[in-house]
Amino acid sequence: MADVIALDYAALADPSADLSGPIAAAFGSGSGCLGACFVRGVPGFPELRQRLLRLASVFAALPEDAKQAVVHTPSSYLFGWSHGKEIMNGKPDTAKGSYYNNPIRDVPPKSRDPDYIAKFPEYGFPNVWPKELPELREAFMELGQLIVDVGKLVAAHCDKYLVANFPDIPANFMERAIAESDTIKARLLHYFPISKEDATPKPDGSNMDSWCGLHVDHSMLTGLTSAMYVDESNGEIKDADKSNPDVAAALEPAGLYIQSRGSEFVQVKIPADCLAFQIGEAAQVGSRGLLVATPHLVRGAAYPNLARNTFAVFMQPNVDYPLTADKTFNDFTKEVMKRHYEPIA
Ligand SMILES: [Fe+2]
Repeated sequence: MADVIALDYAALADPSADLSGPIAAAFGSGSGCLGACFVRGVPGFPELRQRLLRLASVFAALPEDAKQAVVHTPSSYLFGWSHGKEIMNGKPDTAKGSYYNNPIRDVPPKSRDPDYIAKFPEYGFPNVWPKELPELREAFMELGQLIVDVGKLVAAHCDKYLVANFPDIPANFMERAIAESDTIKARLLHYFPISKEDATPKPDGSNMDSWCGLHVDHSMLTGLTSAMYVDESNGEIKDADKSNPDVAAALEPAGLYIQSRGSEFVQVKIPADCLAFQIGEAAQVGSRGLLVATPHLVRGAAYPNLARNTFAVFMQPNVDYPLTADKTFNDFTKEVMKRHYEPIA
């Protein structure tokens, strides 16, 4: 089974470091590559993760009218609170609720351009925040910005690898795409507790993806935190008791699975103090397939009142960022968002 490549933050932050070997092993097209890496030692990350992921449970427990007040229909629910609006495996997805916003631009510059908003409602609006949970804004923005800052370092090392293989790829191609982007979207996820029956794979192998179906992201890079499992019994928010053998048994097969280049599904347990990064479709197109998008799914954990909170940051380029000299591919970013999400009309 392939291991996830782990990079040290200090090495990533050193522009003279040559990480082309680990970058190729993490993100390349070889059969052992998973399309993911861990980054350990990011200053300040554990505290910011703890603060934000706990708030996912606090938000989900707010009264229904407080949550409805931050449902944003004009963006097809891609700002604010989204629950039961996306289609997964052909059905409305009620297994998880998501809080979406742009962690870099609280008010995107294009939000005053009606033509842009009409064309790209999923990106163009200002962020939406809940009055009942004012601390969400700072917690969400600060962790999102930290993940994007680390993502730019990962991208800069990917760029060196790309140029070494394709000298005509523009310098800083991936790093610039992320640094200039007005379309970065972060998603605070709350996976609601599910029944054992709903969580368990069926004998034919289906329902492996009981919390999130198999897909690739449309980003250049996606940054992920490890999940926080929360015991929400009696209306409280407590860390899941992993010393309880029944809880440990429920958690053991749960969480993120990546389909390797060799098509094998590999369970990926992100250490709590590490960030993880995955490759998205934009990087696959822009790198001419040197980097390959990462197919992944999430398997549920069935234990009464056990919820899962996590945070993902999708770093896609602006809609007019040229991904390749081939014009056909440059319409890609304009279409891909609509393919990725299938909200209920
Ligand atoms: Fe994803």
